[in-house]
Amino acid sequence: MRFDGKVGRVTGAGSGIGRAVAIGFAQRGGTVAVADVNRDGAEAVAAHIKAAGGSAIAIGVDLTQPAEIEAMIAQTLGAFGRLDMLHNNAFGVPSGLQKGRFARVAEIDDAVWDYTLQVGLTAVMQATRRVLPVMQRQGGGAIVNTASISGLFGDYGIAAYNAMKAGVANFTRVVAMEYAGDNIRCNCICPGAIDTPLLQRSLTTIQGFADATLAAIPMGRLGRPEEMGNVVLFLASDLASYVTGAAIVADGGLTAKTGIPTRFRN
Ligand SMILES: NC(=O)c1ccc[n+]([C@@H]2O[C@H](COP(=O)([O-])OP(=O)(O)OC[C@H]3O[C@@H](n4cnc5c(N)ncnc54)[C@H](O)[C@@H]3O)[C@@H](O)[C@H]2O)c1
Repeated sequence: MRFDGKVGRVTGAGSGIGRAVAIGFAQRGGTVAVADVNRDGAEAVAAHIKAAGGSAIAIGVDLTQPAEIEAMIAQTLGAFGRLDMLHNNAFGVPSGLQKGRFARVAEIDDAVWDYTLQVGLTAVMQATRRVLPVMQRQGGGAIVNTASISGLFGDYGIAAYNAMKAGVANFTRVVAMEYAGDNIRCNCICPGAIDTPLLQRSLTTIQGFADATLAAIPMGRLGRPEEMGNVVLFLASDLASYVTGAAIVADGGLTAKTGIPTRFRN
């Protein structure tokens, strides 16, 4: 799996899954724009790639700001002249919204709802809409979105996140259909519980959540960011040349179950 001569842009690339994708893309010969609202994180990942002999630039972008999304794409095209791979991946709830983050539907916080849909879904559309004509002119490209198993099924207390991730999965399918004739593929990954700062916040602050999460996973462990990176890189690569409109679950078996407990007694 090689990306020689290809240019990628990854959001949320300063940490977790996006970091793994940016590093993996560069390790395989690609040039990558490492974009994140945490500019220091993006700079550190770009420096890591360059220290290993790879090619990268860091871009600070706040995905709540459409003008910054436009600038991020313009900066990538200005630096490298093309864009072959787009990984729309960033998400995180800022500290100011943490209080209203977990709530049942009747208590949904408007600010959390609006932020979640903007950063997680609308920004995905805004970047994709901007890049599609570029990929059309180039003769093709690959877009990978980070959805979630939470976009396929429900969770308690995070309705905005569930609705947003379901939107990402279905937006992915529409892009795949509409641009298949332009040699542009669009897929999404649906991670389960992955060991990143985003999940660690819940695992370490909500009593009992860590043990219950591990107990729900048939493989008995969290996924590693690199394990999600590998799926994204496959979907972005020519090895996935006939894969488009797919939502690939990578969750250690978490959603393979009905939820009915075992009948075995050892
Ligand atoms: N970790 C999991 O268990 C899990 C499971 C399913 C899906 N996901 C999804 O994976 C994606 C990556 O998350 P992660 O787990 O690697 O978390 P992470 O916290 O390690 O990385 C997320 C990155 O997104 C950036 N970000 C947040 N808000 C931003 C904004 N407004 N503009 C630009 N960048 C912003 C953060 O600064 C951070 O670097 C997210 O879409 C998340 O919903 C994660």
